[in-house]
Amino acid sequence: MKPIKIGLLGLGTVGTGVVRIVEGHQEDLQSQVGSPIMIEKVLVQNKSKSRNIAISQEKLTEDPWEIIRDPEIDVIVEVMGGIAHTKEYMLEALSRGKHIVTANKDLMAMHGPEILAKAEQYRCDVFYEASVAGGIPIIRTLVEGFSSDRITKIMGIVNGTTNYILTKMSQEGASYEDVLKEAQELGYAEADPTSDVEGLDAARKMTILSSLGFRSNVDLEDVSTEGISSVSKEDILYAKRLGYELKLLGIADRQDDLISVSVQPTMVKETHPIASVNGVFNAVYVYGEAVGETMFYGAGAGELPTATSIVADVVAVAKNLRLGVNGQQSSLIYKEKKLKTDEQISSKYFLLLHVADRAGVLARITQVFADYEVSLESVLQQPNPTNPDAEIIIITHDANKAALGKVIAMFESLDVVNKVKSVYRVEG
Ligand code: NAP
Ligand code: HSE
Repeated sequence: MKPIKIGLLGLGTVGTGVVRIVEGHQEDLQSQVGSPIMIEKVLVQNKSKSRNIAISQEKLTEDPWEIIRDPEIDVIVEVMGGIAHTKEYMLEALSRGKHIVTANKDLMAMHGPEILAKAEQYRCDVFYEASVAGGIPIIRTLVEGFSSDRITKIMGIVNGTTNYILTKMSQEGASYEDVLKEAQELGYAEADPTSDVEGLDAARKMTILSSLGFRSNVDLEDVSTEGISSVSKEDILYAKRLGYELKLLGIADRQDDLISVSVQPTMVKETHPIASVNGVFNAVYVYGEAVGETMFYGAGAGELPTATSIVADVVAVAKNLRLGVNGQQSSLIYKEKKLKTDEQISSKYFLLLHVADRAGVLARITQVFADYEVSLESVLQQPNPTNPDAEIIIITHDANKAALGKVIAMFESLDVVNKVKSVYRVEG
């Protein structure tokens, strides 16, 4: 059988893993697809850079068009990152009938619909399993494994860098700045770690997961996003004391046809399975109306885990080629989204307030909750070890986001509240 020829764009962490898997697992891959899979050409920025993999110099090029315009190439594997130039290359490759496999969540979260429409027009496949949770096959699971169910909730730890930081802060009492530096040195963080710590990387991944899980056209702008840069050691200590772990969670929720998608540091009850996902690991918890609770766990990044997802996508393209059924993904997202308003988004919340330590203060605070019909699950007051304020820790019952916003605004204007120190969503 004619070999499947790959044009590889990028030979960094993931690209190197792709070469290793294609070469190391060739026999198994061939048995599955019925023909050899070959890496024909590789795009790099700098051909003379030393590589930690043996690759023939003739295969390397610094000219992307040499690959995209090569009629011999069947599949473009894009693992170079970036948005503007990769989008241009993808659209051109599709118009030349080439199939695409990409790990690029930034590109797919922002321009996925345009790229998928072009793919449909030219009867090409676009697969992007590696774009979310690296080695966990969560996209195929949502699309195929859950095709007979109605998913009502997706909760994900989908950013390894922030999970690594929060785990180290929780388990070792380390400071945010020190652990971020370590995560960068270990290669977990994006080139600009702002997108990790401010939640944007997770928001892009949740855009992809919620679109596929709810079969709706969720856009990045629909995801309410907050990162971990203002999380303190004190918050983590309180979470632990109350039986919670603080995690950066992506939460996509659906009731009837109304959906909400958000990313925020969240207090997760320590008994919830996602609370024990530590370090650089990722996990995606999915609740289906019929199946109930499920959870998928594994490496969210790294050379070989991410490359397994990429090469599995190449296998899917090759199988479709054999059956002559490429380019039939458009039916995956067919519902017009209906987003919840803040009045319709409901959750428990944790609040840490610094208040004046005098008679009647607690009563005034609980009155504010009563005024906005927010019911309380627990209230704890204790002296503040570092200043004359008292600390009040409150966990609410389910409250709507709009009402909670009004409560916080009220506290900010109340003379007895010196500081609204922290507010976190609570899950589990
Ligand atoms: P990386 O290590 O920085 O590698 C990028 C590669 O692309 C390098 O080989 C670089 O060439 C090449 N490249 C970049 N810009 C180029 C340009 N303008 N022209 C030609 N070549 C260019 O990146 P990575 O960590 O492998 O990540 C690649 C993609 O996978 C990104 O979209 C990332 O978000 C995604 N991803 C990564 C992981 C992970 O674990 N790293 C996990 C999931 C998804 P040189 O080698 O010559 O510099
Ligand atoms: N920076 C990302 C993370 C890499 O920390 O999860 C994988 O997408």
